Amino acid sequence: MIGIFDSGSGGLSVLREILRLLPKERYLYFADNAFCPYGEKTPGFIRKRGRAVTDYLLSQGADIIVVACNTATAAAISTLREEYQVKFIGMEPAVKPAALSSETGVIGVLATAGTLKGSKYLTTKGLYEDDVRIAERVGKGFVELVERGVLDGPEAEETVRESLQPLLDEGADRIVLGCTHYPFLRTVIERIAGPSVQVIDPAPAVARHLEDVMKSEGLVREDGTPPYPDVTLVASGDESPARKILEIVLSEMEPTDN
Ligand code: DGL
Repeated sequence: MIGIFDSGSGGLSVLREILRLLPKERYLYFADNAFCPYGEKTPGFIRKRGRAVTDYLLSQGADIIVVACNTATAAAISTLREEYQVKFIGMEPAVKPAALSSETGVIGVLATAGTLKGSKYLTTKGLYEDDVRIAERVGKGFVELVERGVLDGPEAEETVRESLQPLLDEGADRIVLGCTHYPFLRTVIERIAGPSVQVIDPAPAVARHLEDVMKSEGLVREDGTPPYPDVTLVASGDESPARKILEIVLSEMEPTDN
């Protein structure tokens, strides 16, 4: 079973990409929304939550864990890897493909404050800073919108514009989505950014990496039991917001041969 967690509904954007590659696995998704947002919490607090959620997922039989949250990856994944035997797959802001493909020489990164301060992001940024200018903004209010299920409309547009416009004004032609909640606002982001700007979500790459690790660890399921997809959702707070987003994700899936 694949355990996945995030501070709330954001990691469902990662689950969506994983389901495309591995539709016949069993999934347990944990939305830690009683403690959302993680973005402004201390790394120590996020590590504590990471341990609590990992203990829960392992107690339910998880064979591998996807930390479907950039903020938790930045704050907790190295500690979790030291403390547990199970394999953890984390998020990484897609600075590299953005930097390598930018034509204006300016890329924009949208992420939480925690991610932008994390050593992993700072190291990646350092590798490309000589080649491109990297403009950053916290997607202020984005997580809250997604948690409330507001994925489009005037309120979403106004909130997104506030953080995105400064990056566009600086000349960014690539926008990296450095928080797993943000892909649910992609329609709004693309509308504001216009056709000359490419929006980059690292989730497909993370899904491919998970598939490779599953294969090399012999974890790919040979004898699944239909119907698929087999996703269980659990939340530390009110489960209904994440359930609504999960329904949207599942309704967009190509049918699997059940
Ligand atoms: N979805 C998360 C991320 O990728 C966390 C958002 C939050 O809780 O602040 O960073």
